[in-house]
Amino acid sequence: MKVVLLGTAAGGGFPQWNCACRMCAACRTGEVTTRTQDCIAVSPTGRGWFLVNASPDIRAQIVSTPEFTPSPGPRDTPLSGVLLTDAELDHALGLVMLREGGGLRVWAPPAVAHALEHDFGVRGVVARYRQWDWEIAEPGTEFEVVEPGGERLLVTAIPVSGKRPRYATESAAEGPWVCAYRISDPATGGTLLYAPCLAAWPEGFDELVAGVDCVVLDGTFHSAEEMPGATGSAVGGGEQKSMGHIPIGGPGGSLELLRAHPRVRRIYTHLNNTNPVLDKGSPEHAELAAAGVEVPPDGTTFEL
Ligand code: MLT
Ligand code: MN
Ligand code: ZN
Repeated sequence: MKVVLLGTAAGGGFPQWNCACRMCAACRTGEVTTRTQDCIAVSPTGRGWFLVNASPDIRAQIVSTPEFTPSPGPRDTPLSGVLLTDAELDHALGLVMLREGGGLRVWAPPAVAHALEHDFGVRGVVARYRQWDWEIAEPGTEFEVVEPGGERLLVTAIPVSGKRPRYATESAAEGPWVCAYRISDPATGGTLLYAPCLAAWPEGFDELVAGVDCVVLDGTFHSAEEMPGATGSAVGGGEQKSMGHIPIGGPGGSLELLRAHPRVRRIYTHLNNTNPVLDKGSPEHAELAAAGVEVPPDGTTFEL
């Protein structure tokens, strides 16, 4: 399986357009590398690609990725489909940007599919432009995604949290609102776990991590009080907590938990623009590096 990390920043990207926090300022002067909003692409052989999440930056991400060069016909694209982990705007707004492409298949867990149709409304909007097939990714039930040549990946949605998007706080849908995806290649045996939104370390998550070759995990915040500390905003630690992201650092943080899995390639994504690990010179980044945990740049590709 081929994997591309198309974007590795949390909602707002890095730098965020209206933010002058220390990290965003360092990004604007070029001291720290920019990052686009979180999403990845996977493919069995490279002939057909599946996005996992569709960020608002998807157009720039696709155009800058050689694997997505349209061919062989003038309107043929290697993009075959999209899988969604959740219905957050930073993971779903990109669907609107893909409206020029017909015949896409989109898989979403039930609550996410409901929100996209009834709360966000993107499904109805896109339907006015192109015919897409909308599929339910039933949590816990393995399904196939198949590229045009017939090669396939096996995918399972795994419920990880009940955190709703803000626009869907009154939605009629029942959770789970956030899933991770376990993706495996039956041809190579390679396995990936992609979990960009993790409110807490779910029951059974250690077994999941231990059973894959690579995990791409929620690294939004380094500390539990990071947002108010970095931006001086009224966003208190309580509100940061309600955003549903386990911090990297501290007791019970995800780094401590990832240390139990040195055999697995461990990558943080969905990095918020306030996160000090964005700066390669920071002690927080050094701590990750010493633990063998990575924060690779946008555009990183690898095979499993
Ligand atoms: C999140 O990951 O917490 C959300 O995407 C926040 C947001 O952008 O609304
Ligand atoms: Mn997000
Ligand atoms: Zn910032």
